[in-house]
Amino acid sequence: MRMEYKNFKEIPIYPKRDLSYDFLGLHWENPFILAAAPSTDDLDMVRRAFKAGWSGAILKTTSIEGTRVDLCYPMMSTFDHDGRRLFGMGNIDLISEHHIDVVERNVRTLKQEFPEKVVGASIMAGRKDDWQRLVERLENAGVDLIECSFSCPQGNIGEDPGKMLAQSLSATELTARWVKEAARRVPVSIKITPHVTDIVEVARAVKRSGCDALTASNSIQALMGIDIRTFTPYPSLGGKSTYSGMTGPAIKPITLRTIAEIARNVDIPILGTGGASTWSDAVEFMSVGAGVVQFCTAVMHHGFRIIDDLTSGMGHYLEEMEFRSPREIVGKALPHIGSHDDLPRRTIRSKIDRRLCIGCDQCVVACRDGGHMAIDARPDRIPVVNDDRCVGCGLCQHVCPVDNCIRMEEIAIQ
Ligand SMILES: Cc1cc2nc3c(=O)[nH]c(=O)nc-3n(C[C@H](O)[C@H](O)[C@H](O)COP(=O)(O)O)c2cc1C
Repeated sequence: MRMEYKNFKEIPIYPKRDLSYDFLGLHWENPFILAAAPSTDDLDMVRRAFKAGWSGAILKTTSIEGTRVDLCYPMMSTFDHDGRRLFGMGNIDLISEHHIDVVERNVRTLKQEFPEKVVGASIMAGRKDDWQRLVERLENAGVDLIECSFSCPQGNIGEDPGKMLAQSLSATELTARWVKEAARRVPVSIKITPHVTDIVEVARAVKRSGCDALTASNSIQALMGIDIRTFTPYPSLGGKSTYSGMTGPAIKPITLRTIAEIARNVDIPILGTGGASTWSDAVEFMSVGAGVVQFCTAVMHHGFRIIDDLTSGMGHYLEEMEFRSPREIVGKALPHIGSHDDLPRRTIRSKIDRRLCIGCDQCVVACRDGGHMAIDARPDRIPVVNDDRCVGCGLCQHVCPVDNCIRMEEIAIQ
């Protein structure tokens, strides 16, 4: 049946909230910015994004003139899941084909046309001189924030081709020092990778370098899938392939952990990136320590217009939670995260709400073959939990298709 609103006044209309706040010494219209990517590689695209309401953008990673940029096409592939396109997206993009001369011009134009927006630029180089010249030229052009890509495979331009700078603690600290030495005015953020044994040590190396912030983190190295007839992995470039950087919703939990782990251990501002698609994803990123949140795949999929949902969703959320500013969200989840040793040991049992159960038997099957054989099927199709076998692992709750039908309840120990 089609739902019809008889009276539009019944639909709650919330006033547009002021989402602006200060972070990293900069003023942000809202917590949503564009990550370094194709969407920020073209002046007109960034103009449209700013007009749509994005508070800032990191222009796609650029390099010094003469740097060979050797891209291969097609560069995208997709990890679809359960009928959902781009649950994860793979790319073998490296850096911008525009060198610093173009990016300098774009920064100047954008700052003239949109003085209230945060114009950031991402850079990558191989030698100290080049890193420092890139910083100086961007500062002179009026950039607000410099992001250093330490997390793209260096391709053919780094000192250690194929490796990421952020995978070496000494290279991270040294290079970050060079960059910070050259930056007289603007904050510098180092974009790292979660592909390390100890993310906290990397964050400490950046902190020691004197750089102002971390961008955490980036794509996850992946093999996106294999054509099982030709055995060629995706993307196939004439029958050959390589590993992609996977982005999008599939990597969100990895990013959340990366940001949380840094924020719990190192006092340094964080720009969050990797898997955010919605305003509530951004709230999650901020709650584990991100000051602003970058978006890339969601924009490549659905366009700049998602900013309307992001800002209205965030506005309603602040209203509901009685927060005055998005800044108040930052770090709110951190006191709830600890080690396994810190967790309370409680006696839990699964409880099925008979009124909500639709008799699908999903919990019965999952518990029987993947849990503790603690849920019995019944002729009336409403399953029953055997408290003697149930350990409270929670599997049934997560396979149940009905919200709140299965709850985990603490029971008194006899
Ligand atoms: C096609 C493509 C190109 C990208 N190019 C860059 C780049 O030049 N520099 C960079 O630091 N990150 C680059 N990224 C990574 C994004 O900035 C972002 O960190 C990543 O996509 C994770 O965010 P998401 O899940 O919102 O997409 C690129 C991502 C994609 C998909």
